[in-house]
Amino acid sequence: MIAQLDAIHQDAQAAIEDACDEAALEEFRIRFLGKKGALTQAASGMRDVSKEDKPAVGQKLNEVRQALTGFVEARSAQLLALKDAEAAKGIDVTLPGRRPQQAALHPLTQVMHRGISALRQMGFTLAAGPEVETEFHCFDALNTPEDHPARNEKDTFYFADGHLLRTHTSSVQVRTMETTKPPVRIIAPGSAYRRDEIDSTHLSVFSQMEGLYVAEDVSLGDLKGTLERLFRAIFGPKTPVRFRPHFFPFTEPSFEIDIKLQPKGQDPRWIEIAGCGMVDPNVFRQICESRGDDVYDPDKVTGFAFGLGLERLAMIMWGIPDIRLLIENDQRFLRQFASA
Ligand code: DAH
Repeated sequence: MIAQLDAIHQDAQAAIEDACDEAALEEFRIRFLGKKGALTQAASGMRDVSKEDKPAVGQKLNEVRQALTGFVEARSAQLLALKDAEAAKGIDVTLPGRRPQQAALHPLTQVMHRGISALRQMGFTLAAGPEVETEFHCFDALNTPEDHPARNEKDTFYFADGHLLRTHTSSVQVRTMETTKPPVRIIAPGSAYRRDEIDSTHLSVFSQMEGLYVAEDVSLGDLKGTLERLFRAIFGPKTPVRFRPHFFPFTEPSFEIDIKLQPKGQDPRWIEIAGCGMVDPNVFRQICESRGDDVYDPDKVTGFAFGLGLERLAMIMWGIPDIRLLIENDQRFLRQFASA
Protein backbone atom coordinates (compact mmCIF):
# COMPACT_ATOMS: atom_id res chain seq x y z
CA MET A 1 0.00 0.00 0.00
CA ILE A 2 2.89 2.31 0.71
CA ALA A 3 4.13 1.65 -2.80
CA GLN A 4 0.69 2.42 -4.19
CA LEU A 5 0.63 5.73 -2.32
CA ASP A 6 4.08 6.60 -3.61
CA ALA A 7 2.91 5.87 -7.12
CA ILE A 8 -0.09 8.17 -6.69
CA HIS A 9 2.24 10.88 -5.39
CA GLN A 10 4.47 10.55 -8.43
CA ASP A 11 1.55 10.50 -10.85
CA ALA A 12 0.15 13.60 -9.25
CA GLN A 13 3.49 15.36 -9.44
CA ALA A 14 3.62 14.77 -13.17
CA ALA A 15 -0.07 15.56 -13.73
CA ILE A 16 0.00 18.90 -11.92
CA GLU A 17 2.49 20.16 -14.50
CA ASP A 18 -0.16 19.70 -17.18
CA ALA A 19 -2.88 21.53 -15.25
CA CYS A 20 -2.44 24.76 -17.18
CA ASP A 21 -5.82 26.38 -16.54
CA GLU A 22 -8.56 26.35 -13.94
CA ALA A 23 -10.60 23.65 -15.62
CA ALA A 24 -7.57 21.34 -15.82
CA LEU A 25 -6.78 22.04 -12.19
CA GLU A 26 -10.31 21.07 -11.21
CA GLU A 27 -9.97 17.87 -13.21
CA PHE A 28 -6.75 17.14 -11.35
CA ARG A 29 -8.47 17.69 -8.02
CA ILE A 30 -11.29 15.33 -8.90
CA ARG A 31 -8.93 12.73 -10.30
CA PHE A 32 -6.75 12.57 -7.19
CA LEU A 33 -8.64 14.07 -4.30
CA GLY A 34 -12.31 13.72 -5.31
CA LYS A 35 -14.76 11.29 -3.73
CA LYS A 36 -13.85 8.63 -6.26
CA GLY A 37 -10.33 9.90 -6.76
CA ALA A 38 -7.19 7.83 -6.60
CA LEU A 39 -6.29 8.82 -3.07
CA THR A 40 -9.74 8.21 -1.66
CA GLN A 41 -9.81 4.80 -3.28
CA ALA A 42 -6.38 3.98 -1.93
CA ALA A 43 -7.54 5.10 1.53
CA SER A 44 -10.35 2.59 1.44
CA GLY A 45 -7.63 -0.09 1.35
CA MET A 46 -6.72 0.88 4.94
CA ARG A 47 -9.19 -1.60 6.31
CA ASP A 48 -7.13 -4.49 4.87
CA VAL A 49 -3.87 -3.26 6.38
CA SER A 50 -2.65 -5.22 9.34
CA LYS A 51 -2.85 -3.63 12.75
CA GLU A 52 0.88 -3.15 13.18
CA ASP A 53 1.33 -1.54 9.73
CA LYS A 54 -1.63 0.82 10.17
CA PRO A 55 0.22 3.71 11.86
CA ALA A 56 2.92 3.84 9.18
CA VAL A 57 0.47 3.52 6.30
CA GLY A 58 -1.87 6.05 7.90
CA GLN A 59 0.93 8.53 8.22
CA LYS A 60 1.96 7.98 4.62
CA LEU A 61 -1.62 8.51 3.51
CA ASN A 62 -1.74 11.84 5.34
CA GLU A 63 1.58 12.94 3.88
CA VAL A 64 0.46 12.19 0.35
CA ARG A 65 -2.90 13.93 0.89
CA GLN A 66 -1.10 17.00 2.22
CA ALA A 67 1.33 16.99 -0.69
CA LEU A 68 -1.49 16.75 -3.22
CA THR A 69 -3.52 19.48 -1.55
CA GLY A 70 -0.37 21.60 -1.57
CA PHE A 71 0.01 20.98 -5.34
CA VAL A 72 -3.51 22.27 -5.94
CA GLU A 73 -3.05 25.36 -3.80
CA ALA A 74 0.30 26.29 -5.29
CA ARG A 75 -0.95 25.81 -8.83
CA SER A 76 -4.08 27.79 -8.14
CA ALA A 77 -2.00 30.72 -6.84
CA GLN A 78 0.25 30.50 -9.91
CA LEU A 79 -2.71 30.58 -12.27
CA LEU A 80 -4.15 33.64 -10.48
CA ALA A 81 -0.85 35.48 -10.73
CA LEU A 82 -0.71 34.65 -14.42
CA LYS A 83 -4.19 36.01 -14.93
CA ASP A 84 -3.32 39.24 -13.10
CA ALA A 85 -0.19 39.68 -15.18
CA GLU A 86 -2.25 39.20 -18.33
CA ALA A 87 -4.79 41.79 -17.24
CA ALA A 88 -2.08 44.31 -16.36
CA LYS A 89 -0.40 44.01 -19.76
CA GLY A 90 -0.06 47.43 -21.35
CA ILE A 91 -0.52 49.27 -18.07
CA ASP A 92 2.38 51.50 -17.20
CA VAL A 93 2.51 51.37 -13.43
CA THR A 94 5.19 54.04 -13.34
CA LEU A 95 2.80 56.72 -14.68
CA PRO A 96 1.76 59.27 -12.04
CA GLY A 97 -1.74 58.67 -10.68
CA ARG A 98 -4.71 60.86 -11.54
CA ARG A 99 -5.41 63.12 -8.62
CA PRO A 100 -9.12 63.26 -7.76
CA GLN A 101 -10.53 66.80 -8.05
CA GLN A 102 -11.25 68.42 -4.73
CA ALA A 103 -14.79 69.70 -4.47
CA ALA A 104 -15.57 72.91 -2.62
CA LEU A 105 -18.42 75.29 -2.04
CA HIS A 106 -18.52 78.38 -4.23
CA PRO A 107 -17.45 81.52 -2.31
CA LEU A 108 -20.95 82.97 -2.71
CA THR A 109 -22.45 79.85 -1.18
CA GLN A 110 -19.94 80.12 1.65
CA VAL A 111 -20.88 83.72 2.54
CA MET A 112 -24.54 82.83 2.24
CA HIS A 113 -24.10 79.95 4.67
CA ARG A 114 -22.28 82.18 7.15
CA GLY A 115 -25.07 84.76 7.03
CA ILE A 116 -27.80 82.16 7.31
CA SER A 117 -26.17 80.40 10.21
CA ALA A 118 -25.67 83.64 12.19
CA LEU A 119 -29.30 84.67 11.60
CA ARG A 120 -30.64 81.21 12.38
CA GLN A 121 -29.07 81.47 15.80
CA MET A 122 -31.16 84.59 16.30
CA GLY A 123 -34.38 82.80 15.42
CA PHE A 124 -34.73 83.62 11.71
CA THR A 125 -36.09 80.96 9.35
CA LEU A 126 -35.69 80.65 5.60
CA ALA A 127 -38.32 81.99 3.22
CA ALA A 128 -38.51 82.18 -0.57
CA GLY A 129 -40.52 83.85 -3.31
CA PRO A 130 -40.70 83.81 -7.11
CA GLU A 131 -38.05 85.47 -9.25
CA VAL A 132 -40.63 86.32 -11.92
CA GLU A 133 -42.68 88.83 -9.98
CA THR A 134 -45.59 91.20 -10.32
CA GLU A 135 -45.05 94.94 -10.21
CA PHE A 136 -47.29 94.90 -7.18
CA HIS A 137 -45.05 92.63 -5.10
CA CYS A 138 -41.79 94.18 -6.26
CA PHE A 139 -42.80 97.86 -6.06
CA ASP A 140 -46.37 98.91 -5.19
CA ALA A 141 -46.70 96.88 -2.01
CA LEU A 142 -43.30 98.22 -0.99
CA ASN A 143 -44.50 101.81 -1.12
CA THR A 144 -42.53 102.55 -4.27
CA PRO A 145 -44.10 105.40 -6.28
CA GLU A 146 -45.04 105.03 -9.97
CA ASP A 147 -42.25 107.32 -11.05
CA HIS A 148 -39.46 105.74 -8.98
CA PRO A 149 -36.37 105.24 -11.18
CA ALA A 150 -36.08 101.53 -10.25
CA ARG A 151 -39.37 100.92 -12.08
CA ASN A 152 -37.94 102.31 -15.28
CA GLU A 153 -37.77 99.98 -18.30
CA LYS A 154 -34.13 100.93 -18.58
CA ASP A 155 -33.39 99.44 -15.17
CA THR A 156 -35.76 96.50 -14.90
CA PHE A 157 -36.42 93.45 -17.09
CA TYR A 158 -40.13 93.45 -17.97
CA PHE A 159 -42.09 90.71 -19.70
CA ALA A 160 -44.70 91.57 -22.32
CA ASP A 161 -47.49 90.58 -19.90
CA GLY A 162 -46.36 93.09 -17.28
CA HIS A 163 -44.48 90.64 -15.05
CA LEU A 164 -40.86 91.43 -14.29
CA LEU A 165 -37.69 89.84 -12.96
CA ARG A 166 -37.51 90.95 -9.35
CA THR A 167 -35.02 93.75 -8.83
CA HIS A 168 -34.52 92.85 -5.18
CA THR A 169 -35.46 90.13 -2.72
CA SER A 170 -37.59 92.66 -0.79
CA SER A 171 -40.62 91.23 -2.64
CA VAL A 172 -40.29 88.17 -0.36
CA GLN A 173 -41.21 90.45 2.56
CA VAL A 174 -44.56 91.07 0.90
CA ARG A 175 -45.09 87.43 -0.09
CA THR A 176 -44.37 86.32 3.48
CA MET A 177 -46.64 88.81 5.19
CA GLU A 178 -49.47 88.02 2.75
CA THR A 179 -49.48 84.40 3.84
CA THR A 180 -48.13 84.42 7.41
CA LYS A 181 -49.46 86.11 10.53
CA PRO A 182 -47.04 87.99 12.76
CA PRO A 183 -44.70 87.41 14.43
CA VAL A 184 -42.50 86.70 11.39
CA ARG A 185 -38.75 86.46 11.43
CA ILE A 186 -37.42 85.41 8.04
CA ILE A 187 -34.36 85.52 5.83
CA ALA A 188 -34.66 85.12 2.09
CA PRO A 189 -31.50 84.58 0.08
CA GLY A 190 -31.98 84.56 -3.68
CA SER A 191 -31.33 86.06 -7.10
CA ALA A 192 -32.23 89.56 -8.21
CA TYR A 193 -32.06 91.09 -11.69
CA ARG A 194 -31.22 94.53 -13.03
CA ARG A 195 -30.51 95.88 -16.49
CA ASP A 196 -27.07 97.01 -15.46
CA GLU A 197 -24.08 97.16 -17.77
CA ILE A 198 -21.81 94.35 -16.64
CA ASP A 199 -18.52 95.63 -15.26
CA SER A 200 -16.17 94.94 -12.37
CA THR A 201 -18.82 95.78 -9.77
CA HIS A 202 -22.12 95.03 -11.56
CA LEU A 203 -23.86 91.94 -12.89
CA SER A 204 -27.34 91.76 -14.34
CA VAL A 205 -28.07 88.69 -12.18
CA PHE A 206 -26.83 88.82 -8.63
CA SER A 207 -27.63 87.51 -5.17
CA GLN A 208 -29.19 89.21 -2.22
CA MET A 209 -30.23 88.25 1.24
CA GLU A 210 -33.34 89.83 2.66
CA GLY A 211 -34.38 89.88 6.29
CA LEU A 212 -37.67 90.79 7.95
CA TYR A 213 -38.76 90.79 11.58
CA VAL A 214 -42.26 91.87 12.48
CA ALA A 215 -43.87 91.54 15.91
CA GLU A 216 -45.25 93.72 18.67
CA ASP A 217 -42.72 96.27 19.84
CA VAL A 218 -39.82 95.58 17.50
CA SER A 219 -37.53 98.56 17.93
CA LEU A 220 -34.68 100.27 16.19
CA GLY A 221 -32.51 98.85 18.99
CA ASP A 222 -33.47 95.33 17.85
CA LEU A 223 -32.51 96.25 14.31
CA LYS A 224 -29.12 97.58 15.38
CA GLY A 225 -28.38 94.69 17.72
CA THR A 226 -29.34 92.04 15.18
CA LEU A 227 -27.35 93.51 12.32
CA GLU A 228 -24.29 94.30 14.40
CA ARG A 229 -24.30 90.73 15.55
CA LEU A 230 -24.74 89.45 11.99
CA PHE A 231 -21.81 91.43 10.60
CA ARG A 232 -19.58 90.65 13.55
CA ALA A 233 -20.35 86.97 13.08
CA ILE A 234 -19.19 87.26 9.47
CA PHE A 235 -16.30 89.74 9.76
CA GLY A 236 -15.07 89.21 13.32
CA PRO A 237 -16.31 90.17 16.79
CA LYS A 238 -14.55 93.55 16.96
CA THR A 239 -15.68 94.86 13.56
CA PRO A 240 -16.99 98.46 13.91
CA VAL A 241 -20.50 98.82 12.43
CA ARG A 242 -22.27 102.14 11.80
CA PHE A 243 -25.75 103.10 10.68
CA ARG A 244 -25.93 106.04 8.30
CA PRO A 245 -29.32 107.67 7.57
CA HIS A 246 -30.52 106.97 4.04
CA PHE A 247 -33.75 106.59 2.10
CA PHE A 248 -35.68 103.51 0.99
CA PRO A 249 -39.35 103.72 0.04
CA PHE A 250 -40.33 100.74 2.18
CA THR A 251 -38.64 101.68 5.45
CA GLU A 252 -38.81 104.76 7.69
CA PRO A 253 -36.37 105.59 9.11
CA SER A 254 -33.91 103.96 6.71
CA PHE A 255 -30.18 103.42 7.01
CA GLU A 256 -27.22 102.21 5.13
CA ILE A 257 -24.89 100.05 7.16
CA ASP A 258 -21.13 100.46 6.91
CA ILE A 259 -18.47 98.31 8.46
CA LYS A 260 -14.91 99.41 9.09
CA LEU A 261 -12.35 97.12 7.54
CA GLN A 262 -8.71 97.30 6.72
CA PRO A 263 -8.13 95.95 3.23
CA LYS A 264 -4.69 94.36 2.90
CA GLY A 265 -1.96 96.98 2.65
CA GLN A 266 -4.43 99.89 2.93
CA ASP A 267 -5.71 102.20 5.66
CA PRO A 268 -8.88 101.10 7.47
CA ARG A 269 -12.02 102.53 5.86
CA TRP A 270 -15.79 102.41 6.10
CA ILE A 271 -17.39 100.16 3.52
CA GLU A 272 -21.10 100.20 2.72
CA ILE A 273 -22.53 96.76 3.12
CA ALA A 274 -26.34 96.72 3.48
CA GLY A 275 -29.58 98.68 3.55
CA CYS A 276 -32.08 98.49 6.37
CA GLY A 277 -34.79 100.30 8.26
CA MET A 278 -38.03 100.13 10.20
CA VAL A 279 -40.88 98.84 8.03
CA ASP A 280 -42.86 101.82 6.72
CA PRO A 281 -46.46 101.94 8.07
CA ASN A 282 -47.63 102.29 4.46
CA VAL A 283 -46.24 98.82 3.73
CA PHE A 284 -48.21 97.39 6.66
CA ARG A 285 -51.37 99.18 5.48
CA GLN A 286 -51.00 97.72 2.02
CA ILE A 287 -50.52 94.23 3.47
CA CYS A 288 -53.67 94.62 5.58
CA GLU A 289 -55.56 95.57 2.44
CA SER A 290 -54.22 92.55 0.50
CA ARG A 291 -54.94 90.15 3.35
CA GLY A 292 -58.32 91.63 4.19
CA ASP A 293 -57.56 91.64 7.92
CA ASP A 294 -55.75 93.87 10.38
CA VAL A 295 -53.09 91.60 11.87
CA TYR A 296 -50.44 93.87 10.37
CA ASP A 297 -52.12 97.04 11.57
CA PRO A 298 -49.20 99.51 12.04
CA ASP A 299 -50.71 100.47 15.38
CA LYS A 300 -50.29 96.88 16.57
CA VAL A 301 -47.01 95.73 15.04
CA THR A 302 -43.66 97.17 14.14
CA GLY A 303 -40.78 95.61 12.31
CA PHE A 304 -37.43 95.99 10.68
CA ALA A 305 -36.11 94.85 7.33
CA PHE A 306 -32.69 94.63 5.76
CA GLY A 307 -31.14 93.61 2.48
CA LEU A 308 -27.61 92.96 1.39
CA GLY A 309 -25.75 91.91 -1.73
CA LEU A 310 -23.94 88.62 -1.37
CA GLU A 311 -21.45 89.21 -4.20
CA ARG A 312 -20.40 92.45 -2.56
CA LEU A 313 -20.06 90.68 0.76
CA ALA A 314 -17.86 87.98 -0.77
CA MET A 315 -15.74 90.58 -2.57
CA ILE A 316 -15.15 92.49 0.66
CA MET A 317 -14.51 89.36 2.67
CA TRP A 318 -11.83 87.94 0.38
CA GLY A 319 -10.63 91.09 -1.37
CA ILE A 320 -11.97 89.89 -4.74
CA PRO A 321 -11.27 92.75 -7.16
CA ASP A 322 -13.78 91.94 -9.93
CA ILE A 323 -17.35 90.65 -9.47
CA ARG A 324 -17.16 88.74 -12.77
CA LEU A 325 -14.71 86.29 -11.21
CA LEU A 326 -17.67 84.98 -9.24
CA ILE A 327 -19.55 83.81 -12.32
CA GLU A 328 -16.79 82.69 -14.67
CA ASN A 329 -16.25 79.31 -13.01
CA ASP A 330 -12.53 79.52 -13.60
CA GLN A 331 -11.12 76.76 -11.45
CA ARG A 332 -7.86 78.61 -10.85
CA PHE A 333 -9.97 81.19 -9.01
CA LEU A 334 -12.41 78.82 -7.33
CA ARG A 335 -9.74 76.42 -6.09
CA GLN A 336 -8.53 79.11 -3.70
CA PHE A 337 -11.70 78.70 -1.66
CA ALA A 338 -11.46 74.93 -1.40
CA SER A 339 -10.03 74.74 2.09
CA ALA A 340 -12.55 77.02 3.72
N1 DAH B 1 -33.96 96.27 -1.57
C1 DAH B 1 -32.83 97.14 -1.36
C2 DAH B 1 -31.91 97.09 -2.57
O1 DAH B 1 -32.01 96.19 -3.34
C3 DAH B 1 -32.04 96.73 -0.13
C4 DAH B 1 -32.82 96.94 1.10
C5 DAH B 1 -32.73 98.17 1.76
C6 DAH B 1 -33.63 95.97 1.61
C7 DAH B 1 -33.44 98.41 2.90
C8 DAH B 1 -34.34 96.18 2.78
C9 DAH B 1 -34.24 97.42 3.42
O2 DAH B 1 -35.13 95.27 3.31
O3 DAH B 1 -34.95 97.63 4.54
O4 DAH B 1 -31.11 97.97 -2.72
